[in-house]
Amino acid sequence: DWIMSSFVEESIQAIRDKVGSGKVLCALSGGVDSSVAAVLLSKAVGKQLTCIFVDHGLLRKNEGDEVEKVFGPEGSLDLNFVRVNVQERFYSKLAGVEEPEAKRKIIGEEFIRVFEEEAKKIGTVDFLVQGTIYPDVIESGLGKSAVIKSHHNVGGLPDYVDFKEIIEPLRLLFKDEVRKTGLELGLPEYLVYRQPFPGPGLAIRIIGEVTAEKVAILQDADFIYRQELENAGLNKEIGQYFAALTNMRSVGVMGDERTYDYAIALRAVTTTDFMTAEAAELPWDILGKCSNRIVNEVKSVNRVLYDCTGKPPATIEFE
Ligand code: XMP
Repeated sequence: DWIMSSFVEESIQAIRDKVGSGKVLCALSGGVDSSVAAVLLSKAVGKQLTCIFVDHGLLRKNEGDEVEKVFGPEGSLDLNFVRVNVQERFYSKLAGVEEPEAKRKIIGEEFIRVFEEEAKKIGTVDFLVQGTIYPDVIESGLGKSAVIKSHHNVGGLPDYVDFKEIIEPLRLLFKDEVRKTGLELGLPEYLVYRQPFPGPGLAIRIIGEVTAEKVAILQDADFIYRQELENAGLNKEIGQYFAALTNMRSVGVMGDERTYDYAIALRAVTTTDFMTAEAAELPWDILGKCSNRIVNEVKSVNRVLYDCTGKPPATIEFE
């Protein structure tokens, strides 16, 4: 795609002109926007860039390792990569907390604290990279109405880190152009076509208290669900799909044994803008396959439910 390749070339030159010999810091979430922004910066200024990746233990199965594979020392990029493993720290902060907004608030604040601690170790930085894209620019100009959920984004850090200037290399691009740029820069497809994933991660897909055990259950169930939809070729048609762990346990039977285990909820929506959404009409055989695999392969789960609610009145996420 010649348009994207010239965008890449021009951006790299513009970044070099701006940054000079300065130090650049990037908060990497593993999402599409921050990943593409990070690679672009890395191609432009190499080791002058440090990427901090906070692994809060609320990511999807294998996601932390996938990010590390691309951006860490084993990858082909030449940058400073710091993965902060703070899974236990987040689980202990979240212990006993059930209320959705309280969970979001704790995760958002703890995230900033961790980032701040790591940034201090690096010392003074000149530039902070943000993966802002064009729709974010428009949206923030409109002024949001009632707060339904307090959004947590890796983007919102500027107050907490000492830096001189922000760099937003993607601020004129739409999402599909960001993806094309990512491919142009050699990012793997699984990173480039990643679904939207909320900042608080799996914590808001586990209804009620979050524990390490529940995270593991949900990661396994969600992995199976995503794998089956990808195998069926449905992944590119459906706007967003994921599993959630309900806080409900119910009675089941396994062999001759009574079980009393969790119910997993599967969600899939079609949407144009994520402001409204319809439940996707997944083929029954695919749902059946997912259900079978999940109850058989994931311990502590004996029931699988499909969420057929649209937004509104439900939201896409469960909390
Ligand atoms: P809801 O649940 O509000 O979600 O219908 C709409 C879209 O926003 C995503 N979402 C978030 N994204 N930080 C984010 O970056 C958040 O805190 C957050 N909460 C929800 C959600 O995945 C969906 O795509």
